[in-house]
Amino acid sequence: MSNKVTVSVIKADVGSVVGHSRPHPKMMARCEEIMRDGVKAGTINDFYVTRVGDDINLYMTHFKGENHKDVHGLAWEAFKSSAKIAKDMKLYAAGQDILKDAFSGNVRGAGPGAAEMEIAERGSEPVLFFMADKTEPSAYSMPLSRIFMDPFTTTGLVIDPRAHEGFKFEIVDVFKCKKIVMSAPEESYDILSLLGDTTRYAIKRVFSKDPSLDVAAVVSTEKLNVCAGKYVGKDDPVALVRCQSGFPAVGEVLQPFMFPALVAGWMRGSHYGALYPCSVDDSDPTFFDGPPRIVCLGFQISNGKLQGCEDPDSPPGVHKPVDFFAGSVWDEARRKAVKASIYIRQHGPFMPSILGPEEMEYTTRPAVLEKLTKRMEDIE
Ligand code: 13P
Ligand code: 13P
Ligand code: MG
Ligand code: MG
Repeated sequence: MSNKVTVSVIKADVGSVVGHSRPHPKMMARCEEIMRDGVKAGTINDFYVTRVGDDINLYMTHFKGENHKDVHGLAWEAFKSSAKIAKDMKLYAAGQDILKDAFSGNVRGAGPGAAEMEIAERGSEPVLFFMADKTEPSAYSMPLSRIFMDPFTTTGLVIDPRAHEGFKFEIVDVFKCKKIVMSAPEESYDILSLLGDTTRYAIKRVFSKDPSLDVAAVVSTEKLNVCAGKYVGKDDPVALVRCQSGFPAVGEVLQPFMFPALVAGWMRGSHYGALYPCSVDDSDPTFFDGPPRIVCLGFQISNGKLQGCEDPDSPPGVHKPVDFFAGSVWDEARRKAVKASIYIRQHGPFMPSILGPEEMEYTTRPAVLEKLTKRMEDIE
């Protein structure tokens, strides 16, 4: 037991209705039930169950630290139980992210994704919870680079004394399973030299250089298709970002999403599409299984609990977060995202609409090449 609070987001796609659209409400209700039991048993302190597209997200707070087997075990139980409901209803891809029969102490490598941060709660602790569907962890690399390295995005890098020191980036090579910590602004160009290759590198964590602030952001970087050895769906990654007072302000963190960047993972995990910022309710994929969605919910972490606003439609004590991309300000980015997505779709099965050959989640290429081998002739 630590006096630091841990914020854990564990997410999985365990089946959806219709196709890869949204989990059934009974699945969400089952997760809530299991989370409530987890609070009663003292495993977690507080929770919120939500979703983006077909991915169920369990937000949990507790005092057990990252990668704790009881907390991961609780999430595993919720996903297994929801997968059973999905299977019974013959929902689509029921149990998609349950890759192992038995729980072995941690969800990492077993299918679900996790973003966790153990923090010394500040006097006021605003945290943004990002959830993306139909894309991969490196979708956060460009926005996080802008948030923590670009003074034209985050004026705080210029005018807030602690942010002015810059930030450290933990970058992972998702294929080699290696990581490196680099420092901005000194190594900014080297950092971008890695992150620009979105097929291989992704930001795992960002740290303040002020030890009392410590971790600033964390992204789930489990690469499902690599850890499973076969296609089982995109990561659909989550990210947590701490805001204000030495960290970028909430508005500075949100700003980069006004540009709907092209990201990989749309339709069959094999296409590029523009990242569409939206509310939870608007996160069903409605055009070519997309376009890739990004949702941002905000909670204050207060005495180890998720402090949002009291919800008149929920039982007493249930708090709802602020749904940041719900409002009309984001219509502009949504329109741009749809326009860009229509444009890139005109390329049909040609690159750059489809991913490069190593990244395709589905391919007939090896079989086609095999069939044609004998007919291939040397060029004179
Ligand atoms: P307030 O003055 O409303 O607290 O806002 C401060 C701030 O930094 C907003 O970006
Ligand atoms: P999910 O990874 O969200 O299940 O989507 C799979 C897909 O490729 C849909 O086209
Ligand atoms: Mg799915
Ligand atoms: Mg999904």
